[in-house]
Amino acid sequence: MEQKVLENFLEFEGKTAVVTGACGGIGSAIVRKLCKNGARVACVDREEGDSFKEFAESTAMFSADVSDEESVKETIEQIKKRFGQIDILINAAGVGGMCARTEEYVFSDFKRIYEINVFGTFLMMKYVLPVMQKQQKGAIVNFGSVSGQRGYPYEIGYGSSKWAVIGMTKNAACENGKNGVRINSVSPGWVDTNMMKKTIKGYRSVVKNDCMENVNLGPMERPAKAEEIAHAVLFLCSDKASYLNGTDILVDGGKTLE
Ligand SMILES: NC(=O)c1ccc[n+]([C@@H]2O[C@H](COP(=O)([O-])OP(=O)(O)OC[C@H]3O[C@@H](n4cnc5c(N)ncnc54)[C@H](O)[C@@H]3O)[C@@H](O)[C@H]2O)c1
Repeated sequence: MEQKVLENFLEFEGKTAVVTGACGGIGSAIVRKLCKNGARVACVDREEGDSFKEFAESTAMFSADVSDEESVKETIEQIKKRFGQIDILINAAGVGGMCARTEEYVFSDFKRIYEINVFGTFLMMKYVLPVMQKQQKGAIVNFGSVSGQRGYPYEIGYGSSKWAVIGMTKNAACENGKNGVRINSVSPGWVDTNMMKKTIKGYRSVVKNDCMENVNLGPMERPAKAEEIAHAVLFLCSDKASYLNGTDILVDGGKTLE
């Protein structure tokens, strides 16, 4: 019953959303919630994954690499042709990269993280913003992290990329807002997805004995479910968040309090 009230609370009927990282843990939860709330969703990912069969009428898959400018440009053109409008952009595509001390961090791995997390988010905003500006309406949600709010060991690449995403969100938000286009970010703590599993494995390889210092889950003593992050994202895209611009919503169960 409670779930039903929540699903009906936000309405995206007639809206078109673009979700990158749509086949990932958090991205796919966002796609499902948007569809349940009436949106049509362009699902962008470089990997094949969930085909959202139960929402076949409201979804379309686009295979693209967000770090490749031509791929992004072409994909946005295809989405415009297919749907005619873009009301919502959610940049959930991301990679965690390697876990290592700064002096051992491999430069090419560091660059690859930036290409996807930072430049990918930038490129998607660059090519979607003109569409939203023309419509005089739109909402963008980028993905930060608790790693973009505090310093954690062994993730100089990932952590700093998330500081950059939160920063870019504020830069772009300053340039918009009065034209009806809002840009915000969400910063999760641990979320139970493949990325979390890979990251913990990475920590183990560095710390060897005890990696609990890095997998501190915070006072709730559990990771978030992907759906719990999706709820915050849907709120930011909705008209209920009409005065939120350039902000970051921390969805970490209180992890950063400790
Ligand atoms: N899981 C966590 O604990 C956690 C915590 C904080 C922030 N986040 C952020 O949330 C977002 C989603 O993470 P997730 O946990 O769902 O991870 P995930 O690994 O389950 O999904 C990430 C998705 O992004 C896609 N992707 C990666 N590189 C791409 C590229 N170049 N082009 C297109 N698609 C690409 C992958 O194929 C995958 O489907 C990420 O930005 C991540 O940094 C996750």
